[in-house]
Amino acid sequence: MSKCAGKEPFIYPETLETLLSEIRLCREKYSPFWIKMPHLYDIKQFDSLLKVIIQHNIQGVTVANLIKDRKKVEIKDPLTDEIRGGLSGEPTRKHSLELNRHTYKNYGDKLTSISVGGVFSTEDAYAKIKAGASLVGLITGLFFEGPQLIGRINRELVQLLKNDGFSSISEAIGADFNKKQKKSKKL
Ligand SMILES: Cc1cc2nc3c(=O)[nH]c(=O)nc-3n(C[C@H](O)[C@H](O)[C@H](O)COP(=O)(O)O)c2cc1C
Repeated sequence: MSKCAGKEPFIYPETLETLLSEIRLCREKYSPFWIKMPHLYDIKQFDSLLKVIIQHNIQGVTVANLIKDRKKVEIKDPLTDEIRGGLSGEPTRKHSLELNRHTYKNYGDKLTSISVGGVFSTEDAYAKIKAGASLVGLITGLFFEGPQLIGRINRELVQLLKNDGFSSISEAIGADFNKKQKKSKKL
């Protein structure tokens, strides 16, 4: 069976390379350009996609999409095969944060990242920023917590930033990797 069979044809470096080469002309017209990353558990494969992406001068990535392989996570109430679709929300939180860290640690100087996956609280959003996200996205959290979640996160983030001695979100981006440097910043 072809590697490209199924619904995610561009999760391989070769196919992504072909795609990005093909759309280069269009991109020049409509840049900047961000790419939504697949939720891969094979970090080497994930990294190989990032390598292709930086070679194509892409501005950033969204990390990450739904978990397609349900066997990778423990679910309290098992889903039957008739229930279609990938996993979002809580099951994606931990590993999307790891993918976020990997992206920032290795390519933080070349790519900005938008982090999504399992944001249900201000603490979840803050963890993503400290792991290297410049922007945080959420969908499933809104279903459970309601639309007011966004306002709450924005308000409460101010306090969490202050507690850690940051005067802006920008200062906190990637703080997990720059603890000494960030601590030396004045209020
Ligand atoms: C109802 C729903 C629709 C989605 N539609 C898309 C889509 O069209 N394209 C896409 O890249 N991701 C889509 N996603 C995935 C989300 O963008 C996100 O990557 C994922 O849900 C993890 O974030 P969350 O835990 O905040 O929902 C969808 C997710 C949900 C729950």
